Amino acid sequence: MIRYNLKYQLFFSLLILLNTNSVIGQQSIPQTASLKSIFKKDFLIGAALNTKQIEDKDPKSAVLIPQQFSAITPENCMKAEVIHPTWDMYNFDLADKIVAYGQKHHIKVNGHTLIWHSQLPAFVRNMQNADSVKQFFNNHINTVASRYDGKIFSWDVVNEALEEDGTLRKSIYSQKLGENYIVEAFRLAQAASPKSELYYNDYNIEQPTKRAGAIALIKKIQAAGVRIDGVGIQGHWRVNHIPFKDIEESIIAFAALGVKVMFTELDLGVLSNPWDKDAADVSQTAQYSEKMNPYPNGLPDSVQTQLANNYEELFKLFLKHKDKISRVTFWGVSDGQSWLNGWPIRGRTNYPLLFDRNFDPKPAFYKIVALKQKD
Ligand code: XIL
Repeated sequence: MIRYNLKYQLFFSLLILLNTNSVIGQQSIPQTASLKSIFKKDFLIGAALNTKQIEDKDPKSAVLIPQQFSAITPENCMKAEVIHPTWDMYNFDLADKIVAYGQKHHIKVNGHTLIWHSQLPAFVRNMQNADSVKQFFNNHINTVASRYDGKIFSWDVVNEALEEDGTLRKSIYSQKLGENYIVEAFRLAQAASPKSELYYNDYNIEQPTKRAGAIALIKKIQAAGVRIDGVGIQGHWRVNHIPFKDIEESIIAFAALGVKVMFTELDLGVLSNPWDKDAADVSQTAQYSEKMNPYPNGLPDSVQTQLANNYEELFKLFLKHKDKISRVTFWGVSDGQSWLNGWPIRGRTNYPLLFDRNFDPKPAFYKIVALKQKD
């Protein structure tokens, strides 16, 4: 471990020498290798941004994000409950800011998300009348998507519409609007934002049964003559449980449909899941216990190494299929901000990303960078 660190530290000290240091207030963050430059010819490298980061109120993020990432996704601020809180009121404050952030730093913005059953405003959650749901659906897509046409690179038009068995999820949309609502969402988004790429996004669609459902869905949209440009596999996985074979088969199968393949919410949790399963259903939560939070004061080297090795394997696979993959986005920048500290159990300490709580690169970062040095 020590020798490994030494080798990489020497290598990166050299890189640091080639760069100037950035000074933020009194603090100085050494510049290190840049993911977005290293993978420039392969795929975009993205991160989900929270409010502080969008508002440039977090000094370390303010340096790291433009340095490392070529794509950004708002973690929450474009979801319906934030952007459209009541019938006739929209709140574009933060959404406008992330779009401006992208323009300022030449970073592509992926809108997340137009249609999702979760994080809906209260007035929609309680809707009984199908016509009201339809009206909300039309107004929401038209208003939000058209505002950012030409300014936003892409939209997750529909998020998480499938059950684990590949059938359509029972949601307010499928129940009130019928099973064609997904095609309609893409049709409306295409009309409202003709310059943006349009994607379907979901978790576990690398798994064969759910993948088959996603393939059928994409074919249905295409058969209706409606545009779909890409599919996002979220990628909320756990260390030592990465479904490599399913992931590779999915990249190949989705690309064969003529759509771009993306990994849109990548994080590799190191904590056990209370149900020992891999899903990212935000509504599933469990009680805290100390047993479920084994690393409150730091990650043991052994787990750190496993995390680094898993990330290395994953990026080897991504590079092998770089002709089919257009973007790899992490769900957050640094471990401290990760949603996995709060889901599915509140108050845990997780370590799923490439930058630690101090925004320093972790061994996983160096492993990924080193892959390109061998290229
Ligand atoms: C998560 C956010 O990270 C949290 O801050 C929020 O409380 C819940 O949603 N799949 C998605 C994302 O598509 O929008 C979710 O983001 C994580 C799972």
